[in-house]
Amino acid sequence: MTPTDYEYLRKLLKDHSGLDLSADKQYLIESRLLPLSRKCGVPGIGELVQKMKGGSSPLIAQVVEAMTTNETFFFRDKIPFEHFRDAIIPEMLKARASRKSIRIWCAAGSTGQEPYSLAMSLKEMGAVLAGWRVEIIATDLSAEVLEKSKSGVYSQFEVQRGLPIQLLVKYFKQNGELWQISPELRAMVQHRQLNLLHDFSQLGAFDVIFCRNVLIYFDQDTKIHVFNRLAGSMERDGFLLLGAAETVVGLTDLFRPCAERRGLYRPSVFNAAAISGAPVLAKLGAFGGR
Ligand SMILES: C[S@@+](CC[C@H](N)C(=O)[O-])C[C@H]1O[C@@H](n2cnc3c(N)ncnc32)[C@H](O)[C@@H]1O
Repeated sequence: MTPTDYEYLRKLLKDHSGLDLSADKQYLIESRLLPLSRKCGVPGIGELVQKMKGGSSPLIAQVVEAMTTNETFFFRDKIPFEHFRDAIIPEMLKARASRKSIRIWCAAGSTGQEPYSLAMSLKEMGAVLAGWRVEIIATDLSAEVLEKSKSGVYSQFEVQRGLPIQLLVKYFKQNGELWQISPELRAMVQHRQLNLLHDFSQLGAFDVIFCRNVLIYFDQDTKIHVFNRLAGSMERDGFLLLGAAETVVGLTDLFRPCAERRGLYRPSVFNAAAISGAPVLAKLGAFGGR
């Protein structure tokens, strides 16, 4: 790959997915894109770049998808799911008692282990949620991971990562070497393809947003851009969960960390005495963020 090809790909990935590659990640591009070159019948990255410059947008989408890191597993990092069970849902049960509905967004849900972990957590709470409408919306940039998420089918290796055996037995059915999640859990999760760099206001306002292990791939300006818009898609008494290596600190004042609850954030305008359910940015008036 020539330095010009590398710069072309770096810019393209930044513009299309937010992926911020440093100057020395040629090996990463090669390991992810050489299999795609072969699939496209061209010998190397240089030829792939030429094809892209020829204006093939399906190829651009394939390149962008091939460069995403989709690593995930059930109940990843455990603590966010403890916050969900012990702090978020109990508070939502009180705050939403009149409307009896909770909206949850997994903003980079990958192959589904995160949204299905939330669905299992909700099921395990049993009767307290009887009569409630709980929506889980899983989105991702990659159509391929969303297809897998929708199918709810996992390998032995995948179900051995993070999923307690009693939940495996309770919510999955074995089919040869694969495990199929129960239709009931599958029906709890809706899927949409969505790029966090694009407008997502059409999704409406959420009570809980899991946006974990995706912002780490973005540069500072892109993170700020996403945080500002996440605030606009969140109820003013909502909850934001970030990955273990991610924070709002030093990037935005729109969210503040919750003391004693690592990875959990709330809108800064949140005022427990005046819960109105209005999205955060509506309360900030003509907010000038990007
Ligand atoms: C490392 S996975 C994290 C999955 C899950 N949230 C977790 O923490 O286990 C990151 C996901 O972000 C998605 N992604 C990358 N860039 C994105 C973007 N601009 N918009 C939406 N999703 C994106 C990738 O396709 C990938 O599935």
